[in-house]
Amino acid sequence: MEPRAESPGRAKDEERARATILNVNDTPAVLYLTSRILTVAGYHVVEATSGTEALRLAGGRPDMVLLDVHLPDIDGYEVCRRLRAREETRDLLIAHLSAVSVSREDRLRGLAQGADAYWTTPLEDDELLANVEALLRLQSRAQAAVHARDEFMSIAAHELRTPLTALRLNLERLVHHLTRVPGDMVARRTVEASTTPALRQLVRLQQLLDTLLDVSRVGSRKLRLDIEVFDLAEAAREVAGRLAMSARAAGTELSLALPLGPALLMGDRLRLEQVISNLLANAFRYGDSKPIWLTVEEHPDALWLSVTDQGIGIAKQDQARIFNRFERASSTGRADGLGLGLFIAREIVIAHGGTLSVESEPGQGATFHVTLPRHRTAAY
Ligand SMILES: Nc1ncnc2c1ncn2[C@@H]1O[C@H](COP(=O)(O)OP(=O)(O)OP(=O)(O)O)[C@@H](O)[C@H]1O
Ligand SMILES: [Mg+2]
Repeated sequence: MEPRAESPGRAKDEERARATILNVNDTPAVLYLTSRILTVAGYHVVEATSGTEALRLAGGRPDMVLLDVHLPDIDGYEVCRRLRAREETRDLLIAHLSAVSVSREDRLRGLAQGADAYWTTPLEDDELLANVEALLRLQSRAQAAVHARDEFMSIAAHELRTPLTALRLNLERLVHHLTRVPGDMVARRTVEASTTPALRQLVRLQQLLDTLLDVSRVGSRKLRLDIEVFDLAEAAREVAGRLAMSARAAGTELSLALPLGPALLMGDRLRLEQVISNLLANAFRYGDSKPIWLTVEEHPDALWLSVTDQGIGIAKQDQARIFNRFERASSTGRADGLGLGLFIAREIVIAHGGTLSVESEPGQGATFHVTLPRHRTAAY
């Protein structure tokens, strides 16, 4: 990084000035000048001279993209639209930069296609820098708010768990005593009638808190994987066994199709069991009480796992969205989930260098596919 020119009011914010800006422009003189202004101000600048190059470099997640509208191959509006459509670049800060001659309609189009700002050149140096800083400031405020939310969720989930565990232990002890001490049958049944559902609700509360804790860990990339070699088929069998009660409660039959021998994988067994369990929980919940399949298949470099149900299915327009945090398909009309199960599952799978996708037609059920590379990848 080149040394920064000191100017009043900017010196204290070293952090922000170290941001990386992807500067996209096909006019060499303009590219050179804007890059120079930004570099002198302390920003780290990466340059691209075409839309294709911009799309490639944006994968490196710069803090901001300064995007010329007129590019030789793909125009700036389209680059912006594609960046927004891609998972890893959808939240990038994008500012269009274009000549004054551009019409008002074009500027509106740029913002409508997802740009965060539209600046017309020529801009004085200080004006460009002030605009860049203002936009970065806005972003860092939004990020701080999200961080505060995750931090709060993490602390709240942690703190709430302690009294809950104590309460559960006490209730369990009470139920245990009740079954042993001889006494008035009617009174015992009355107490049992309220303690048993209370215990069930406590277990559910604990699960919800665990989910919240997970989501804050995953969101802040604090998910640590404990890698070991294990048999995914055996893990699948074990999860299915654990969830047999839930399957019965949902009135469904769960069938397994597993390889005969061990399906060895390098990964975090507990986390991957959580993926299977989240997918099965969904199949029970949205599977319309029809049969469900859990499959593990061996392929040369990867293991495939899938969960298939024949339930309500998912509309095309919801299929990408449901993997995001707190997102639920509107058609279900049910309110008993947080919309976090798939988000956590996908983050875990991605952390293993794998993929999680869905194939579904409304009313025809859904299949969730997981692929997991058998060996460690650069992802972890
Ligand atoms: N097998 C499925 N069939 C139909 N819709 C599904 C299925 N799995 C998930 N969905 C839809 O995707 C949404 C998101 O699923 P996700 O598991 O993330 O959250 P949830 O089940 O609502 O809550 P929880 O956080 O308890 O898992 C669900 O609300 C539902 O609308
Ligand atoms: Mg779920």
